[in-house]
This record gives sequence, structure tokens and C-alpha cells, in this order.
Amino acid sequence: MGVNLKGRSLLTLLDYSSEEINYLLELAAKLKEKKRKGIQGTSLKGKNIAILFEKTSTRTRVSFVVAARDEGGMPEFLGKNDLQLGDKESVKDTARVLGRLFDGIAFRGFEQKTVELLAEYSGVPVWNGLTDQYHPTQVLADFLTVKEEFGYLEGIKFAYIGDGRNNVANSLLIGSAKMGIHFTLIAPKELWPESRIVNLVKEEAEKSGAKINFSTDPDAVYKTDVIYTDVWVSMGEEAKFAERIKLLQPYQVNTNLIKKADNDKLIFLHCLPSFHNRETTIGEKIYQEYGLEAMEVTDEVFESGYSRVFEEAENRMHTIKAVMVASIGDLNAVQD
Ligand code: CP
Ligand code: NVA
Repeated sequence: MGVNLKGRSLLTLLDYSSEEINYLLELAAKLKEKKRKGIQGTSLKGKNIAILFEKTSTRTRVSFVVAARDEGGMPEFLGKNDLQLGDKESVKDTARVLGRLFDGIAFRGFEQKTVELLAEYSGVPVWNGLTDQYHPTQVLADFLTVKEEFGYLEGIKFAYIGDGRNNVANSLLIGSAKMGIHFTLIAPKELWPESRIVNLVKEEAEKSGAKINFSTDPDAVYKTDVIYTDVWVSMGEEAKFAERIKLLQPYQVNTNLIKKADNDKLIFLHCLPSFHNRETTIGEKIYQEYGLEAMEVTDEVFESGYSRVFEEAENRMHTIKAVMVASIGDLNAVQD
């Protein structure tokens, strides 16, 4: 039986099978091609889409907006000061109102519980655009980028280095375990993912044949196809800079680390935003306070021929479009 994602929310990749993830990646590639040809889509025609964000965003926000418009949908951005969510009105009541007026809801915020409640009470598909725990739409874009580069996912050697217990690391682990990607998480033990996630991931890996390894040693990047990192301090954890800098300095992605991988074909990925140069106010303040030259990645690697970070950023839009079209769109209208 073919994959059918009609009416489905995307709260975490744990709820999706490898066939369903593959289906979304193929649909995203098709929609990307269609956009390249300049074809205005109609598969989301008449669909009102709420984009409810408690945290700031560049890529995810504009991806939902542009993706919706490209396919004829009508996106409405609702920032944290625009609604009474959680302050004057419960998440459940907000969900019931939004569900009556909108056909789908994108949510970015703190607690995973909020996105779960929105899905449960709105009665319409809800797409997780990042919570403290997961970032599933990010990983779809990451996998599309890897697939475009190497042509396949199963058997790819993927190294994530840095804060191993954040939303991106969790979702990459889950996605890799499902897709048969050999995933090595390299981080100090203090920043390894929680055991609940590790256990879930091990079960998935047994089914797919993915090898999942945890290491404290940056040398574990040897012969990897992908090196991936993320910021050392995620949104909402700003008080942790001192602690993270101390723990993570040996895990910086720099030219030395790229050399350790010893693979000319490797690519560097980062979900972005990134502190890789001296052109951000927050980054500059931290560099000065701690006497740093760089944080999670050096400018040299970020700007190098290994880097695919802007292909990856563009792919956020194509994959988010696929998620919306698959769950609320008219698939017959997706022609190429
Ligand atoms: N990668 C990502 O989610 O970027 P934004 O925070 O800009 O949405
Ligand atoms: N881990 C980062 C990802 C940003 C896209 C954060 O949560 O801030």
C-alpha cells in the first residue's frame, strides 16, 4: 500500500516510518524541481495556515510562508506577542479556536507538550518547527541535502559533534536510526542525549541496520561523509554559555577536525544560525567575554568548499512544503 500522510501531524520523527520519511524527501525533490521550472502550485489552494512561533526564527518561519504561497496557500504569522497563548488563554482553548479557522498549524516553542496539545485539541495537522526537544523539519532538509550530494542515505557515515543533547541532535539521531545512516555522536559525556532517546534510537537502529555510536573523542570523525554541528547554546539556555564553552571547545569544527576525517568528499552541515564570524552582536559579546576566536565552527570551514549550509537552508523550504502538501494538500495538483 502506498504512503498516505493525509491529516497527519509531524511532532517528532519517532512517529514516522522510513517509508514515510522517504516519501516526504521524494515529494520535496519533486516540488523543488517544480519551483525551479517556475510553476506556481495550487495544491494548498484555499488552505489557511497558522504559523505560531514562541521563539525567534529566520529559516523555519520564511520556509512555511514561502512554501504555503508557492502552492497557493494562505499563511498567517502569529508571534509570541500576538496571541494570548498560555498567558491569558490555555493552549487547549487556543488550539480549539485555531483548529476551527485554520487547516494546519506550524508551531515553534519551548515545550514538546505544547505542540502535542495543539495537535490533540485543534483537530488539524500540526507541524513542529522546533521545540526544546525536537526539530523534525530540520532533519528532513538535512537528509535531502545529503541525498542530493551522495545520491543515497542508507550506509552514509554521519558525525554530529557538539551539544549532543539538543533538539537537532535528538532529531538527527532518530532520523538516522530510521534511515539506516551510520551515526556517530561526538560530545562530552555531560552532553550526551537522555537515555530514553538513546533506547528508542537503539530499537530503531536494530530494524534499519544503522550503526549508532557515542564517543567523547573528536577523532571519531575518521572517514565520515558528513560533519554536522549546531550552536553550543540553544534558544532558552542563554545562561549556559560559560559551562558549554568550557565543555565544548575541544569539539569545535575547524580545519584540523576536517583533516582528521580524511575524506575529500565530506560535507559540512549546520542547521544555522551559526556563530562563525565576528558579524553578530551576541557572538561578538561572547567572543570578547571568553577570549574566543570562534565557537562551534570556524569561519574557514563555514566558508570552505566542504560547506553545504546554504543548500541545506534552502532545502528547509522544499521539505516543509512537502510536509504541508502531504498532510493537507491536493496531491493530484502536484504536477511537474
Ligand atoms: N535552522 C533553523 O531552524 O533556523 P531558524 O531558527 O532561523 O528557523
Ligand atoms: N539547537 C538550536 C537550533 C536552532 C535552529 C536552538 O534550539 O536554538
